[in-house]
Amino acid sequence: MPTRVLITGAAGQLGRALARAMSSKMDLLFVDTIQATSDVTLCDITDQAQVEEAVRSFKPRFIVNTAAFTDVDGNEREPEKARDVNTTGVEYLLTASGEVGAQLVQVSTDYVFDGTAGPYLEEDEPAPLSVYGRTKLEAERNVLENGSHTVIRTNVLFGPYTESKASFVGWIVNSLRAGKALRIVDDQINNPTLTTHLAEAICSAIEEGATGLYHYGGLEFASRYEFTLKVARHFHLPTDGISPVATKELDQLAPRPLKSGLICSKMKMDLNVMNATISEALSEAFPES
Ligand SMILES: NC(=O)c1ccc[n+]([C@@H]2O[C@H](COP(=O)([O-])OP(=O)(O)OC[C@H]3O[C@@H](n4cnc5c(N)ncnc54)[C@H](OP(=O)(O)O)[C@@H]3O)[C@@H](O)[C@H]2O)c1
Repeated sequence: MPTRVLITGAAGQLGRALARAMSSKMDLLFVDTIQATSDVTLCDITDQAQVEEAVRSFKPRFIVNTAAFTDVDGNEREPEKARDVNTTGVEYLLTASGEVGAQLVQVSTDYVFDGTAGPYLEEDEPAPLSVYGRTKLEAERNVLENGSHTVIRTNVLFGPYTESKASFVGWIVNSLRAGKALRIVDDQINNPTLTTHLAEAICSAIEEGATGLYHYGGLEFASRYEFTLKVARHFHLPTDGISPVATKELDQLAPRPLKSGLICSKMKMDLNVMNATISEALSEAFPES
């Protein structure tokens, strides 16, 4: 019988990639707060009764939680919502997992680090700068301290589904197509990650029953400015309106980790996963561009 997997945040960019990666191999239930497609069941992870109902009726072997309040500045404006979605919702999923013997795979972020000494390994000490980072870290700790579960941290996700508010690539392409000038930070370093590859890595983690903490990111480290230029060139969009700016000049509400990114050698070793350069990933996600 195929393994039963419940995917939360199924209408988001990672949720959709997971659906594509897993649908031929696993028995899936997709849940989200919006019914983006007919196969998505409505379930708000901040509503414990809804979470219990979904988990008890489907009885998954695994729950992959991609649902999150991902607007980093929005988290500063609405810290209660941030805690509800990013921490308390995960607690409800953890409790429901325990009731049916499911393993929780929690997706987390490099924003748990302060960005002074990245890229980071799993054993590096987190020191979040923002409400988003703190609420995600609290959830991670709860998951890892309460059973044989998995936390996979990632960073700067992008993929074929660019309508998500969390898609940096979608924002760049839409802005450039609208003729907007962009000031992009050249002092925030990450390894941008293709959702399709992360979804395959999560699939491997499930197939191998991997537990504990893992990092997963792309093969290439770049500043947001360098990444933006690569995206613009891939989509044959003009680059002359893109200018570099220092993070401190932007006055963003939430402080960002600067020298960040994730080293994923542990995951490569344990699960034999692959990752790609930015250009390879863009060509895979947007072959027609
Ligand atoms: N995007 C990135 O660059 C990035 C980087 C590092 C880590 N991550 C992590 O990766 C995971 C997936 O991110 P993503 O980029 O796929 O985000 P996304 O596109 O915003 O998808 C998240 C989904 O969760 C839904 N959701 C929000 N609140 C919910 C709730 N209370 N109950 C159920 N569903 C809810 C969202 O719906 P609405 O859109 O309606 O709110 C959205 O469909 C998240 O855990 C995020 O923290 C993302």
